[in-house]
Formats: sequence, structure tokens, C-alpha cells
Amino acid sequence: MKQSYYIVALPGDGIGPEVLSAALRVLNLASELFQIDFRVEEIECGGHYYAEHEIEWPEGSFEKCEAADAILLGAVGHEVDGKTVFTKPGKPYPEPQLAGFAQVIANRQKLDLYANVRPVKLYPGVKHKIHGELKQVWEPGKVDYVVIRENTEDAYTGETNEIPDGRVTPIRITRRATERVVRYAFNLARRRNRQLKVTCVDKSNIIGAHRFFRDVFREVGQREFPDLKLDYAYVDAFCQWQIRNPEWYDVAVGPNLVGDIVSDNGATTAGGLGLAVGGNIGDEHAMFEPIHGSAPKHAGKDKANPLAAILSVQMMLDWLGTRHDDERLLRAAQKVEAAVAELLSEGKTLTYDLIGEEKASRCSEVGRAVEEKLRMLA
Ligand code: IPM
Ligand code: MN
Repeated sequence: MKQSYYIVALPGDGIGPEVLSAALRVLNLASELFQIDFRVEEIECGGHYYAEHEIEWPEGSFEKCEAADAILLGAVGHEVDGKTVFTKPGKPYPEPQLAGFAQVIANRQKLDLYANVRPVKLYPGVKHKIHGELKQVWEPGKVDYVVIRENTEDAYTGETNEIPDGRVTPIRITRRATERVVRYAFNLARRRNRQLKVTCVDKSNIIGAHRFFRDVFREVGQREFPDLKLDYAYVDAFCQWQIRNPEWYDVAVGPNLVGDIVSDNGATTAGGLGLAVGGNIGDEHAMFEPIHGSAPKHAGKDKANPLAAILSVQMMLDWLGTRHDDERLLRAAQKVEAAVAELLSEGKTLTYDLIGEEKASRCSEVGRAVEEKLRMLA
């Protein structure tokens, strides 16, 4: 247990600052209700910052992330005249990158946040936009699995890779990174203690590096986790099964780009991106974020769904509580999740994506409603 927790908040671009501000209010309230001291430092950053300063954040910001007990990220990606802002060659990366790369991709790689943990969980009452209509299509309880996305390599490094059979691929997948992420997935399946099953999702019928990922998965699984069922799926087929039969899955693990895609696809069955959350977890650091991105067209309208950002606070509280053996944080995490679940099942104070434009509440109103529930539940 610590006296005080140092949190770096990176609001970023687009709707990032709005949803993160609602989330930080919830964190603040949790601090008051559960008597936990948080020192929160907000750092302006992302594509809009780059467009103005030709750097993605002030000098020394990465070091602050490194020193933080946890990081909260809003979203990055800024547009000028309808075009996404990329960094200039050589400033600071050799090749142009999405401006905001420092916060999302470089933080993941440099802080060694090797497991990107993305739950796909349908809360009761949550409706889906299918053919433009809001319906509850999937059943709660049948959609409850976790995507674990390898978070430091694959197509995200720009590096090539020599694989054991002597070929070179434009995709970097190493034994070390694969072993640790599949172990994370296997351990999670044990902790969840549901189907005791882990699905390896990849494109190993075509991509040699993915074949290597699958081989390491099988090897580690058979050797160290004989109590678990090992399951295999090609990513294209997995995408339709996760829509048709989400109840088949418990924990799914895959290379970086595969995990990126299947976590968005899975979100469809769990209320959409407005509720989807990701924890970037390493052995020493962690960063939590809504996975929806900066949605420039909705920015500044107080319209976006803040619940994914609020659930990323919940995930952060849970991770910090476990790491520092701090009951207060674990209780706070449970209550924040309960507050969100209650709001969802009541189905009244929600944003447009979950309730339609006519009945929609604003981003800030939904945030306040979570705060009210949290006060009642604490
Ligand atoms: C995500 C996002 C990022 C990614 C983008 C913003 C670079 O889509 O976190 O899923 O591809 O990882
Ligand atoms: Mn993504």
C-alpha cells in the first residue's frame, strides 16, 4: 500500500480531453469516498500539440510517464482541413508517424507494456446499432471474454525480422515478446477460472512470423499450462465467430495488429466502441485508455460517450490495487464498475450511441450520473 499514487493523464486530441475530464472527475470522487490520495498531472499532447510545436509533448514528459504509478490516456489523432496530422521526416522519427505516436505506440514499446488487455463484456441492458436501429442482439453473460493483444512488436515497429526457418519478414515477432504475452493470457485464463481456454488468433496459414507466434503459444501452453485448453483460430474466421458465437471465447491472444482488429470487432457485440477499454500492462508500468480513438468529427460537442474512459479508470484502480495490495483501490474499482453497470441497465442517462440522438444525454451529464451512482454505492 502506498501513501500516494502519481497518475499522469494524457488527454490528447479530439474527444480525448472531454472523455478524460469526465473520467478524472470519477477518479477524484473515488479518492474522496475511499480516502485514497492521487496526485494527478495532466500533460497536453498529441497531434494538435505537434501541429503547433513540432513536438508531441513538452520535454521531460516521457520521464514523467516513466515515473508515474499509472498513466491514463484519452486519445490521439488530430486533423487539419480533414487530413490526419503526421510527423515530419526526421522530426522526431526517421519516417513520418501518426502525430501522437509518442503517447500511444512509443509509450507501449518504451515502457514495455507488453500485454494490451481488452475485455469484451456485454453489460445487461446495452443495445447495439444494427441497421441503424438500437437493439439488444447478443445476450449478456454470453459475451464475456478478454482479448490480449501483444503490444510491443509485429507490424508496429517498422523493423524486419529473421524467423527460424531463414526467411525475412516485414513483421517483427520475437520469442521473448511472444512468450511473455502468451503466459499473461494463460495466467489470466486460470484467474478467470471460467472455460479454462485460451484461443490463439493469428494468420499463420499465410504469415511465417504468425506461425512462429502460434508455435510458441503451443509450446508454452503444453509445457506450463497442462490444465488449460488450447484453441486456434485464423483471424478472418475468428472475426465472424466472435459475432456469431461470442460465448465460445474466454481469453484470446494474438499478435499486435490482429489484436487491434479483433478488439474493435468484438466491441460491436458489447455496446460498441463507446464502452471498449484497454489496459496496456507491463511488469513495471501500465497505461489505461478507451480504445475508441479521437473521433475528430465529434470533438468539442460534449457528445461522446465517457463510459469507456471511466471504465479505464476502473481498470487502473483494479491494477493498482492488486499491484500494491491496497484494498481501498480494489473496492473503488468494484464500485465504479457497479455504478456504470447500473447506469447501463437503467438505460436513461446515456449518450447517443447507446440510446439514440433524441433521448441522448451529453458526455458531461453521463459522467455526473456515474458520480451520483458511485456516491450511492460507496
Ligand atoms: C488502438 C489504436 C492505435 C493502434 C492507433 C491510434 C495507432 O487503434 O489503440 O487500438 O493501432 O494501436
Ligand atoms: Mn485500434
